[in-house]
Amino acid sequence: MEIIDGNQVAASIIAELKAEVASSTGRKPCIALVRVGDDPASVSYVKKKQASAAEIGIESRLILPPVTITQAELNQLIDDLNADATVDGILVQSPLPKGLDEVAVFRRIAAHKDVDGFHTLNLGKLAQEDETGFVACTPAGIMELLQRAGVSLSGKHVVVLGRSLIVGKPAALLAVQRKKWANATVTICHSQTANLPALTRQADVLIAAIGKAEFVTADMVKPGAVVIDVGVNRVPDATKKAGYRLTGDVHFPTVSPLCTKITPVPGGVGPMTVAMLMKNTVKAWRQNRAA
Ligand code: GUN
Repeated sequence: MEIIDGNQVAASIIAELKAEVASSTGRKPCIALVRVGDDPASVSYVKKKQASAAEIGIESRLILPPVTITQAELNQLIDDLNADATVDGILVQSPLPKGLDEVAVFRRIAAHKDVDGFHTLNLGKLAQEDETGFVACTPAGIMELLQRAGVSLSGKHVVVLGRSLIVGKPAALLAVQRKKWANATVTICHSQTANLPALTRQADVLIAAIGKAEFVTADMVKPGAVVIDVGVNRVPDATKKAGYRLTGDVHFPTVSPLCTKITPVPGGVGPMTVAMLMKNTVKAWRQNRAA
C-alpha cells in the first residue's frame, strides 16, 4: 500500500507557478477571496488560499461581508469585481449562509474570472472538453494526483461517491473524458443509490466525496483498489487541543491495508485543491492579459 502525498505534489505545482509569475513583467496575478460570515472551516480554507497566493506572488484581496449581506448587495459586490481590470480571479467560499443563493452567485461571476469553475459556461466547457474553460479545483486536483501517482483511469471502473457541483459531478465528467489518463467507465453513487456497497466494491478507483466521516468501510472496497478520500470532517476529540480531529470519508485504519494506493486526510486532496486554485488563477491572468 502506497500513501499518495498531496502535500508533495501540491508543493511542486506551487513551485512551477512561482517560477512563472517571477519571470513575468508587469502586473502580477490577483485573486479576490470573498468569505461571507465566520464558518470555522471556511476561515481555515481561505487562510490557506491566501498563504499559497502569497508564496507564489499572487496578490490576494480578502473581502469579508457580514452574514447579514443581502443577495442584491452580494450581486453588486460580484459585479464590481467583474468590472475591476486588476482582478483576475474571483472566489466566493462555499457554503454561503442560509438565505443566499449560492448557484446564482456562481453564475454571476464573469466566466473568465471563475477560477472555481462553477459557472454554467465553465461546466459546459468541461462537458465539451474545451480546455479554455476552468475546471473545479478539487476534481482537477484529484486527476492531477492520480496522474502523478501513475494511475491511469483508462478502461477502469471509477466509482464516485457524491454528486455535488463542487466535487462529484465534475470529477465524473473528468474521469470519462476522451483523454490520456482518463477514459474511465464511471458510476456516480449518492444518498438515493440502492445497494451502494455492491457498487463501491466494483470500483478500481473509488472517489469518496460525500462529507460523512469514515463512511467508507473495508467491506465496501475491493482489494487492490485505489482510494481517493475527499472528505474533510471535524470529529469531536477531547484529546486534541482544537477539540476535534480531522477525518476523511474513508475509515483509513481498516480500508488502507486493502488498497494499492490511498490519499490521507489531511495531506491528500486538500493541498491539491488549493494548488489547482492557484493554477487556475495564473491561467486566468495569462488569458486576461492576452485578451
Ligand atoms: N468549499 C469547499 N470547497 C470549495 C471550493 O473548491 N471552492 C469554493 N469556493 N468553496 C469551497
